[in-house]
Amino acid sequence: MLIKELDFGTPIRVSDQTVTLTIDGEQVTVPQGTSVMAASTQRGVKIPKLCATDSLESFGSCRMCLVEIEGRRGTPASCTTPAEDGMVVRTQTERLQKLRRGVMELYISDHPLDCLTCAANGDCELQDTAGEVGLRAVRYGEGANHLKDAKDESNPYFTYDPSKCIVCYRCVRACEEVQGTFALTASGRGFDSRIASGPTDFLTSECVSCGACVQACPTATLIEKSVIAEGQPEHSKVTTCAYCGVGCSFKAEMRGEQLVRMVPYKQGQANEGHSCVKGRFAYGYATHKDRKTKPMIRERITDPWREVSWDEAIAHTASEFKRIQSKYGRESVGAISSSRCTNEEVFVLQKLVRAALRNNNIDTCARVCHSPTGYGLSVTLGTSAGTQDFKSVDEADVILVIGANPTDAHPVFGSRMKKRLRQGAKLIVIDPRAIDLVRSPHVQAAHHLQLLPGTNVAVVNALAHVIVTEGLLREDYIAARCDRDAFESWARFIALEQNSPEYSEQFTGVPAAELRKAARLYASVKNAAIYYGLGVTEHSQGSTTVMALANLAMATGNIGHVGAGVNPLRGQNNVQGSCDMGSFPHELPGYRHVGNDEVRGAFETRWGLKLDDEPGLRIPNMFDEALGGHFKGLFVHGEDIAQSDPNTNHVSAALKNMECVVVQDLFLNETAKFAHVFLPGASFLEKDGTFTNAERRINRVRKVMTPLSGKDEWAAICELSTALGYPMAYNHPSEIMDEIAALTPTFAGVSYSKLDEMGSVQWPCNEASPEGTPMMHVERFVNGAGKFMLTEYVPTSERSGPRFPLILTTGRILSQYNVGAQTRRTENSAWHPEDVLEIHPFDAEQRGILDGELVSVASRAGDVALRAKISERMQPGVVYTTFHHPGSGANVVTTENSDWATNCPEYKVTAVEVRRTNSLSDWQRRNAHEDVALRLLEGANAAE
Ligand code: SF4
Ligand code: SF4
Ligand code: SF4
Ligand code: FES
Repeated sequence: MLIKELDFGTPIRVSDQTVTLTIDGEQVTVPQGTSVMAASTQRGVKIPKLCATDSLESFGSCRMCLVEIEGRRGTPASCTTPAEDGMVVRTQTERLQKLRRGVMELYISDHPLDCLTCAANGDCELQDTAGEVGLRAVRYGEGANHLKDAKDESNPYFTYDPSKCIVCYRCVRACEEVQGTFALTASGRGFDSRIASGPTDFLTSECVSCGACVQACPTATLIEKSVIAEGQPEHSKVTTCAYCGVGCSFKAEMRGEQLVRMVPYKQGQANEGHSCVKGRFAYGYATHKDRKTKPMIRERITDPWREVSWDEAIAHTASEFKRIQSKYGRESVGAISSSRCTNEEVFVLQKLVRAALRNNNIDTCARVCHSPTGYGLSVTLGTSAGTQDFKSVDEADVILVIGANPTDAHPVFGSRMKKRLRQGAKLIVIDPRAIDLVRSPHVQAAHHLQLLPGTNVAVVNALAHVIVTEGLLREDYIAARCDRDAFESWARFIALEQNSPEYSEQFTGVPAAELRKAARLYASVKNAAIYYGLGVTEHSQGSTTVMALANLAMATGNIGHVGAGVNPLRGQNNVQGSCDMGSFPHELPGYRHVGNDEVRGAFETRWGLKLDDEPGLRIPNMFDEALGGHFKGLFVHGEDIAQSDPNTNHVSAALKNMECVVVQDLFLNETAKFAHVFLPGASFLEKDGTFTNAERRINRVRKVMTPLSGKDEWAAICELSTALGYPMAYNHPSEIMDEIAALTPTFAGVSYSKLDEMGSVQWPCNEASPEGTPMMHVERFVNGAGKFMLTEYVPTSERSGPRFPLILTTGRILSQYNVGAQTRRTENSAWHPEDVLEIHPFDAEQRGILDGELVSVASRAGDVALRAKISERMQPGVVYTTFHHPGSGANVVTTENSDWATNCPEYKVTAVEVRRTNSLSDWQRRNAHEDVALRLLEGANAAE
C-alpha cells in the first residue's frame, strides 16, 4: 500500500480555544486559527487548491479554493480565511465550480497536455484538481506560452521544467519557510514571472538540495529524477534515516523491491515532514556496485579474499577467537559496536562479548565522539542524554550554539532552529569558525565568540563568572533544585579572577566585553537553550566542557522547562542508542556499572551465567594492548576505525598486530585492509529494528528490501555467539527489544507494538512515564539534586609553537557524511569531491599559498597533502578540514591526545604547519585511491 498523507491545505493549528462553524450544512469545531480550508478538510470535504499545502502558511494566489460565506461579499479564498464562530460556508455550488473551472482553464492553456507520458501522471495536483472542478476542454487557442522553456537538469537528484510551472510559489515558500535557505526567487512579472534559483542553475546556486521544494511542487515542474527513471511508486513503508542523530522519518516509496524515492513523513515526530539532501536523496549506496554481499576469509592480510558460505565464515571466526583466547587469555579479544547499527544489533553484540567471550571488552564508536556527553551530563544532571525534544527550540528566547554546526551536520534541526531565529530568538555562537548560522539569510548571531580551539572550558567558565559576579544567578531555582554544597563551592571557584573574561581573553582570543554581553543575554531571558556538538566533546577537556555547560544552565534555571536545556547534537543516527545499549566496557545497558552486583545479577539471571565484574578495554586501550602483544582478536561492527580514529599510523600498526580482525560492513572499508574475516552487512533499508535519536526518541526502522547478503546482522551475531558456545536465538528483533525492556528500567515500557501505535517514544518509557519523556528533569533532577562540578581550565598539551604554528580543527559538511563510506557512493560527491584545507588569507599569504593550491599539512603524528581554500571563515592561526575522503587522510595528522575522563580523541586541536607542496605525502602515496591521488595532484603546484 502506498501511504498517502492527508493534506489539510494550511498548517494544523493548536489552541485551547475552539470555534464552531457550519460547512455545507454540517457543524464543525476546530482550534482557533484554523483556516476554512483546513476545517473543511477535517470534516472530510476537500476544497480544490493549488497554491496551498499544509507545510506552508497560506498564500492565496491561485484563486482555486474560493468559497461562499454567508454575509460576506464575493467569494473569499478558503486558505486565507480563518474559521470563525457561527460562520456559514458553502464549498460546492454551481457558481463556485464555474469560477474554479475558469481559473483552471487558464492554467491548463499554458501547460503541456502530456499527462499520459508525464512522470507525475497519477501524482499531480494540477491533474487531480482539473478533474475535481470538471474541466473538460480549453477554449483558448495557442498564444504566448512557456511550453518551450528549457529544463534545468543540473541538480543530480531533481529536475526543474519551467514549462510545467503554474507559478504557485509553493517551492519558493518551502525554501524560505521550511528549509530557511532562500535560494529561490520569482523573476519577471505577471505572465513572464518564472521561478529561478538565482542567477545560476540549481547545482551551483545557494540551493542545498533538501528537496522541500520538490515535495511542495504540485506539478512535475520540480520532480525527482528517480521518479522520472523508475515511474510512480506502488507501495511504501515508514522507516528512519540512517545518517545523522536527528532521526528523520521517511516513507520509503517502492516499486517491487526497487526504492523509487524517500519522502519525509509528515507525522515523523523528529522531522515533521522535512529532510536534508542525505536522507532524501543519498540512498544509492545501498545498492552500489561496491557492496560486498558474500562472507570472505583469508589467512593473512596480504592474501586475496576467498568467498565462503555464512556457515564457514562463522565457524572460522568462532574457532579463531577460541584459539586466541586459549593462547593469549580471555581478555585478548573484544568488539567495537557501531552507532550506525540498530539498538537490537548493538545489544546482541555487547551480549556476545559479555556472555560468549566472557569479558567486558566492548566499546563503541561513540568513544570517539560523544563519550564526554555521557560522562559530563551523568555527573551533573544524573543521566547521559539531552534534556529536551527538538520542538522545545520553538520556545527558546536565546539559543547558544557551541561547537556545533547544525545547518551542515544536523540540517533538519538546523532549519527548525533558523525558523525560531527568524521569529526573533537571539543567537550566541561559540565556535572558532564562522559557521553558516553566524550570518545567513535573515539570521544573524547576536554574538559570535570566535575562540581559539582548545579553550572551550575557559570561555564557558568566563560566561558563568559573569553570571555569578554580576548577580545574574537564579537563586530560587538553585535553592530548590540543586545540591547546595556543590553549588557554593562552584560559585566560589567560578568567581575567581582566573575565570574572568578579562583574564581568559589573553588565551581564548574572545574579547572580554563581547563575552560579558553574551553572558548577560543568556542569563536575561526566561528560556535559554544550549545546543552543542563534537566541537565540545572532542577535546582533552571534552567532559569538563559538558559539565561547564550543565553548570551554566543550572545556574540560570534553564533545565526542566520548555525552550531551555542542555542538548547534545548527536553525530550518527544511533549514537544515543548504542550508548544506551551497554556498549561501554564499564556499563551494562542503561548506563549501569558492571561492578554493581544487583544490576549484574539481573543480567546473570536472565542470561544464565556469571558475568565479569571488571570493566573491559576501551578502544585506545585495545590498540595499546594489541601493540603490546596482548590483544589479538577484534570484531569491528559497522565502523571504519582505520579511517575515523585518530593517528591512523598508530591504529594501523595495532590492527596489523592482531591475529583475527573481523569486519562486518557494507563495503570493504579501510579497516578491512587489516581484516581476516569479512561479514557482509545490511543497509538500513534491509533492517528491522530501532534507532534512538539525539532527543532520546526511539524510532522504528523497517525492512523495505531483503538483505543482499541473505542474512540479518543481528542473526549473524547470534549465530557467532552460538558457535562460540553461548547459544543466542531470536525470531525477530522485537524479541530483542523485549529483552532490552526487561533488563533496562528506562526502556521498561518500550515494545514494537507501542512504537507502531505511537509512532515513536522518548525514553525513559516505563511505568512512571508509559508514553515516554519528551523533557527530562522537570520536577527534579534524575540524580535528585543538580550537581555543580568544578571545571578548572587546563590547557591542552597540544599547542602551537615554532615548528607547528597553526591549529588544525576538523568538522563536517552538509553533503558528505562522516568517513563518507555511504555519501561518496552517491551523487552527493557533486558538491564535495575532496576534502580541502580552509586557511585564513593572512596565513596563506605568509606562506605564499594561493587558493586551490596543493599544500602539505604536517603535525607531529604525520602529514598529508590537501588543496587549500582561502577563507575568511577561519581566524588567523586556525585551519580547518573535513575527513570525508579516505585518500585525504585527515586522521593521519590528528594525534592520540584524548579527553581526561573518557579517552574521546582530541580531533579538534592539532598543532600543524602548512606549506606549499607538489606531491602527496608518503602515507597518501601508499594508501590513497588512485582517483583521489590523481584529483589531488591535478594542477599541483609546478615547483616548490
Ligand atoms: S532543494 Fe531545498 S534548498 Fe534547494 S531550492 Fe529546493 S527548498 Fe530550496
Ligand atoms: S516550480 Fe512547482 S511549486 Fe514552484 S511555482 Fe512552479 S509549480 Fe509551483
Ligand atoms: S537531518 Fe539527519 S536524519 Fe534527517 S534526513 Fe538529514 S541526515 Fe537524515
Ligand atoms: S489554494 Fe487558496 S488561493 Fe490557492
